[in-house]
Amino acid sequence: MGCQYFEPTENGANSFTVAIPKLTFGRGTLAEVGERAKALGFKKVVLFTDPGLESGPLVDIVCQSLKQQAIEYSIFSDIRIEPDDECVTDAARMLTDSNPDGVISVGGGSVIDTAKGALLVAQHGGNIRDYFASPVGGGKPVPGPVLPHIACATTSGTGSECTSITVIRINELNTKFVVASPHLLATQAIVDPQCCDSLPGNVVASTGFDLLCHALECYTARAYTKHLAVNDPNARQLIQGANPFSDLSAQKALEIAGSYLVRGVADNTDNEARDNLMWGATLAGIAFGNSGTHLPHAMSYGVTHLMKDITTDGYQAASPFIPHGISVIVSAPSIFKYTAAAEPERHLEGAAFLSADAKGATPDEAGEVLSKRLVELMRDTHIPNGLKGVGFGESHVKALAESSFRQQRAIANAPRDSNLVDLENMYSGALSYW
Ligand SMILES: [Fe+2]
Repeated sequence: MGCQYFEPTENGANSFTVAIPKLTFGRGTLAEVGERAKALGFKKVVLFTDPGLESGPLVDIVCQSLKQQAIEYSIFSDIRIEPDDECVTDAARMLTDSNPDGVISVGGGSVIDTAKGALLVAQHGGNIRDYFASPVGGGKPVPGPVLPHIACATTSGTGSECTSITVIRINELNTKFVVASPHLLATQAIVDPQCCDSLPGNVVASTGFDLLCHALECYTARAYTKHLAVNDPNARQLIQGANPFSDLSAQKALEIAGSYLVRGVADNTDNEARDNLMWGATLAGIAFGNSGTHLPHAMSYGVTHLMKDITTDGYQAASPFIPHGISVIVSAPSIFKYTAAAEPERHLEGAAFLSADAKGATPDEAGEVLSKRLVELMRDTHIPNGLKGVGFGESHVKALAESSFRQQRAIANAPRDSNLVDLENMYSGALSYW
């Protein structure tokens, strides 16, 4: 079996494809955007950002670097946290009107995902909903390339600067859905850890659990050899299941989360911890962009769909609002107890990467060991205590399961099959942990 150590299956894939943008990581690299844009031939760009960043120092660094290279720019900043289809339509219209050579995004996942969605709609027409999988969307494949895009991440969680995925809320359904296509991959990713220096601890906690779950879901995802082989090599998706490449970056990202998450949340002067978390987020993005997440992300969508009367300090978002990373982690300890039965060794390894005391644990104990470590990290970083901590109770379990059950692609990437009742049971187990 050699380097491809996953067990082959009948009709399963026997190869995997990897793609990431040209990636630059390091303090000060945000100031390189202008020179990089010039090298790509940009003379006129649209800069995507959000209202909170627009007049701040990070966007200023990028604008100054564009001016130094005599690159003309206009700004689109009408982007709310968790962007919706209307936002993408507006942004696409601006791109069409401005007719730029390329796009630069400076922000977290909301900003980068809006840029990806707008590039798609501006280039290939229609509405973003046309590109969501049916029955919710039109099931239209992304037909081809979009304009070049330099994505600059400003949080240590999303990983979107390295993925071919955009997550957009459909207003009419009040639920987020995903478009994934290699054509949506940014041309270049810039990850400058100085962007996280001023982030409040609770934002680092939420984004940190997003990165942790990206990595843990990739490491425990259904193996690529258990997904059907694709005859057309150009049709092979990057969301293809766990593979030897995604394992590498997921493992390192988990080790970083295990060592630095608590420190990075507790002390915003701890540059070592925060720089490592930024690198961990990038690695986790590379992992999930080339393998895919599963149940914790799928089941977060029901949480953000049905949340009520709740908000979180440190975010410029109206109630109801639960940060993405929190919506993912609140159910994760319960979910991994369920999935561990299918791949106990991988769950035990994941726990060990997160610095759990997994010595001597048997495969039967894998789910318990991993779940316990996740709960420990949640408590140490002041994360809400399960679903009850974000306003849900037993009476909401059925509706949560029904909402999340629509995320079939992510559910199918889990190592263990699940039906609606299984989702209800996982939500019941996630009501509170301590
Ligand atoms: Fe995520």
